[in-house]
Amino acid sequence: MFDQAQALRNLVRNRESLRQGERRTKIVTITSGKGGVGKSNFTLNFALSLQSLGQKALVFDADIGMANIDVLMGVQARYHLYHLLKREKTIWEIIHTGPKELQFIAGGSGFQDLLSLPEEDLNYFTEQVDQLTGSVDYILFDTGAGLSKETLKFIVAADETIVVTTPEPTSITDAYALIKVVHRMRPDVSFQLVVNRVADVSEGRQTADKIKLVAEQFLELDIPTLGYISDDSNVSKAVKKQVPFTIAFPNSIASKEIAQMSTRFITGQRYTEPVPGGVKGFFNKMLRLQRK
Ligand SMILES: Nc1ncnc2c1ncn2[C@@H]1O[C@H](COP(=O)(O)OP(=O)(O)OP(=O)(O)O)[C@@H](O)[C@H]1O
Ligand SMILES: [Mg+2]
Repeated sequence: MFDQAQALRNLVRNRESLRQGERRTKIVTITSGKGGVGKSNFTLNFALSLQSLGQKALVFDADIGMANIDVLMGVQARYHLYHLLKREKTIWEIIHTGPKELQFIAGGSGFQDLLSLPEEDLNYFTEQVDQLTGSVDYILFDTGAGLSKETLKFIVAADETIVVTTPEPTSITDAYALIKVVHRMRPDVSFQLVVNRVADVSEGRQTADKIKLVAEQFLELDIPTLGYISDDSNVSKAVKKQVPFTIAFPNSIASKEIAQMSTRFITGQRYTEPVPGGVKGFFNKMLRLQRK
């Protein structure tokens, strides 16, 4: 498995030698321990948000068998990964355009093949993906939940891994389990955490802290928080409309939180908790001063 992972990993290395004026393409894998925590919605809307900040992002649906990024956008993808893996199409032919000119590659159902691809096919796959180098700023791989062998390959090959969890205990323990397994295999993989569907900031913090504390204690691993996304009914409304929520409901809380996250992601700023303004903020600040 790791020969193939190494081939994917080489993509990252090869991208060091850029021609002048080319973009430095960063590969980001979005994953989770438990399923259904909001990865695909996050990936899609995060990509759109990066685009609105002037970055070019390409969403790559790598969810084996359950690929659905195209459904979330209400766009039909004529060609998908299967055609690439079978060497029937080039990478450029399987890239489709969604809303706001967002480029994406649909997953289709052929991804299992990556496991058992003959060497020439794998070389074709990595060569083709490598062609994207310089044409976009970010490639966001939306993976399936849990630690399938394919997902591991993407995690290992990426520059960064974003782990999505919700505050549910099962989601938290599964997220930690995933981090632990990956870290033991490849200690150099770096993670960032997104807590989705939080009731408020303090639930986000408590959830993140649980994962951070065990990661620090047992793995000596620092896992920065990229941010929290509120549980927002506009998300499922948008899913039903097949329009990404940042487009359907740009003023929703979830959309604003995604916008803040993408700014932080681009600038590399660490997450700091928002200080509420108004009377509540005033008293919060006073309490904090008293404690000092
Ligand atoms: N912030 C949110 N607020 C409210 N509902 C949400 C939020 N995020 C996700 N959801 C709900 O969770 C559902 C699943 O989201 P999504 O498909 O993005 O999860 P996933 O992690 O990609 O799932 P899978 O593991 O099956 O790929 C959405 O259809 C939506 O109804
Ligand atoms: Mg998904």
